[in-house]
Amino acid sequence: MKVSVKVPATSANLGPGFDCLGLALPIYNTITIEETVLPGTGIEINLMTEEEQPLDEMIFDNIPKDENSIIYKAVEMLYNSIGQEPSELKINVQSQIPITRGLGSSASVVVGGLLAANKLLGNPADTTALLSIATEVEGHPDNVAPAILGGFVLASQEDDGSIICEKLNWPEEWDITVCIPDFELSTNIARSVLPESVKLQDAVFNAKHLAMLIQAVNNKDAKLMKMALHDKLHQPYREKLVPGMSEIMEAFKHEDGVIGCVLSGAGPSMLIISCGYDLDKIKSKVKEIWEGQSIKTDIRTLKIEPKGAEIIE
Ligand code: HSE
Repeated sequence: MKVSVKVPATSANLGPGFDCLGLALPIYNTITIEETVLPGTGIEINLMTEEEQPLDEMIFDNIPKDENSIIYKAVEMLYNSIGQEPSELKINVQSQIPITRGLGSSASVVVGGLLAANKLLGNPADTTALLSIATEVEGHPDNVAPAILGGFVLASQEDDGSIICEKLNWPEEWDITVCIPDFELSTNIARSVLPESVKLQDAVFNAKHLAMLIQAVNNKDAKLMKMALHDKLHQPYREKLVPGMSEIMEAFKHEDGVIGCVLSGAGPSMLIISCGYDLDKIKSKVKEIWEGQSIKTDIRTLKIEPKGAEIIE
């Protein structure tokens, strides 16, 4: 039996929502799991381009293709949760989501692997259980929650391990421009520069701005959103890892119509949120800044993907 799951890309944090806010984007990975009948063949993980060509080994250096893979780890946890061991599995990942760019590529394979394995096992786990395993593997729920549920999601893993998820309504008229540079930044490195503890005033700053953000989204209040999209818990520390980040943020700070500019997840991609602003102007300004530093760019204006991961065959 073979199951394929299509999973959207995600952008986490949205500035002040570090480790708890994320939205789904219409770029997809397709994860297929097939139970192979030959005993002893073990686990096979293949990573392919959209055209089903094998991906350059180099690109996937940081994604092990054996039992150490995060996909395998997630699938194994699901099997173990019902007292079983995964047997011979062939896992194919057809990849459109750029890797190590802050767009949830690892969350997508975890979620895709889990949903496919769950179907193979006769759906023993509900969405909450899948979210919980995916969060365990990823370490935080802000990418896996929108990857599973779609849309714009507030997600928290509570101290007892339980997951709280709330879908929020993203205003239709707010455009999201995703700016993807041609260099990689692993989440591990981007988290390693964060301090273990922060000043009380920085924690209060983020709490206030996250509260403003939720209110701004609920009321479609672009003016309040512009004030809300600031962060003191992760972006200031990550600036040194993302050349051009501060220039890009500065360039749009005083532009009417640009609501805000934030790091996408752990970076290095950036999200620019705007309303009625000339999108070509955003593209050319970001291009100018990054290309001035010899960084090639892929810039796309996208709508939020309202649908989460779905089984396609
Ligand atoms: N919230 C996470 C971070 C997202 O910023 O490190 C990256 O996976």
